[in-house]
Amino acid sequence: ADERIEEITKKIATYPDFPKPGISFKDIFSVLLEPRVFRNLMAVLEERVRRVCPGVQAVVGLESRGFLIGTPLALALDIPFVPIRKKGKLPGKVKQVSYTLEYGTDVFEAQESSIKKGQKVVILDDLLATGGSMKAACDLVTAMGGEVLLCLVCIELLDLKGCEKFSHPFDAVVKF
Ligand code: PRP
Ligand code: MG
Repeated sequence: ADERIEEITKKIATYPDFPKPGISFKDIFSVLLEPRVFRNLMAVLEERVRRVCPGVQAVVGLESRGFLIGTPLALALDIPFVPIRKKGKLPGKVKQVSYTLEYGTDVFEAQESSIKKGQKVVILDDLLATGGSMKAACDLVTAMGGEVLLCLVCIELLDLKGCEKFSHPFDAVVKF
């Protein structure tokens, strides 16, 4: 067993009935409060990416909590960080994809030239719940000509079976 992961798991705070009754909220920010644990999380993420996809050429992070871990990972790997943002936040020409939420839909965007044809990417987010966000990100990257080598999250909520929504390789540091 990896003691770092056991410690990260303990640090992730749980908030019952947030933001709505019946939802048990897993809070990545409680890990970021402690630099040593945050650093261990980043080290675990970096090790997995180096092992599973050594030829990765960019880290794609999902707004907003995916930015927290996506940017330090891109720096550690010395490759570009590419943001996927919610509609209307990114300047210049953008590519869009819509995705399903519990109620209704939302739109993700990426800047047109931010992902190159054939570019090998890893997609980073804090958490996988229904998998709707990650699936949309995979669709957007693929539509732009990128190749998704790995979808990587810190936390996976197993009950929701979110990883069944998409077919790309997937990994999670902590599973609840
Ligand atoms: C949360 C979380 C993931 C997504 C997971 O983001 O950070 O990105 O939901 O849910 P899913 O697997 O059901 O799509 P949210 O949209 O709440 O926004 P935030 O990251 O800006 O807080
Ligand atoms: Mg998010």
